[in-house]
Amino acid sequence: MEQRNEVILSVRDLSVSYDHITVLRGINLEVRRGEIVVLVGANGAGKTTVMETILGVNVPDSGSVNFEGRNITRTPVDKNVRDGITLVPEGRGAFASMSVIDNLLLGAHHELKRVDKKLDFVFHVFPILKARKKQVAGTLSGGERQMLVIARALMSIPRMIMVDEPSIGLAPMVVNTIFDILVKLNKEGYSILLAEQNVCRALKCAHRAYVLEAGRVIREGRAEDLLNDPGIRAAYLGV
Ligand SMILES: Nc1ncnc2c1ncn2[C@@H]1O[C@H](COP(=O)(O)OP(=O)(O)OP(=O)(O)O)[C@@H](O)[C@H]1O
Ligand SMILES: [Mg+2]
Repeated sequence: MEQRNEVILSVRDLSVSYDHITVLRGINLEVRRGEIVVLVGANGAGKTTVMETILGVNVPDSGSVNFEGRNITRTPVDKNVRDGITLVPEGRGAFASMSVIDNLLLGAHHELKRVDKKLDFVFHVFPILKARKKQVAGTLSGGERQMLVIARALMSIPRMIMVDEPSIGLAPMVVNTIFDILVKLNKEGYSILLAEQNVCRALKCAHRAYVLEAGRVIREGRAEDLLNDPGIRAAYLGV
């Protein structure tokens, strides 16, 4: 039995630059099994870079990433996906000209065994995608497309899902649906690292949070505490 509260992801002193411009400066963060952890920060703070570096898209200048006790710092993306990490990218990058079902099958491309079982599971979580499985992804609504990219990520049977700005540009009702889905997935056992601009909503559903500013973690703590913190409220909640 997996131990609860076990650290599943550990990022230590992580620094990353693009073309010699440093964008992450000594980031430390952790995700424990069963947690929703949110990264909060303004545009350009480095949220996407943190997630992409964990996944293996970027090679860090220094520091380390450990997942389930293994050092994965310079491990390629496909191996990390095979080993249980996935990223739902910013911008809902579904393949617009492909059907819903083909987008989902792409998410399982590294392991096509038991694909029917995986499809049954994502159709159980997202019945709307089952109803629309033959529809071309480009004609889905924004909310449906966000569900599709989350579902596609689930097709790789991850244990930790990173979700980058899922609510951006969606109507409030749809934002609620997406957050409800993330909470439901978390209750089913998925550990979640979330980046969000919708700070209030994200802090309400997360267990813990890190505040990023210009590539550094400037605050961290229980989501509930940050939600009630006057400094955080003034800077990120506009109250
Ligand atoms: N491929 C790249 N090449 C050069 N600079 C980059 C690249 N990707 C990101 N940056 C820069 O790195 C910094 C951090 O960007 P990042 O996308 O990680 O921020 P973010 O917190 O996700 O922002 P947003 O909320 O707008 O998505 C920014 O200054 C950005 O311009
Ligand atoms: Mg981003």
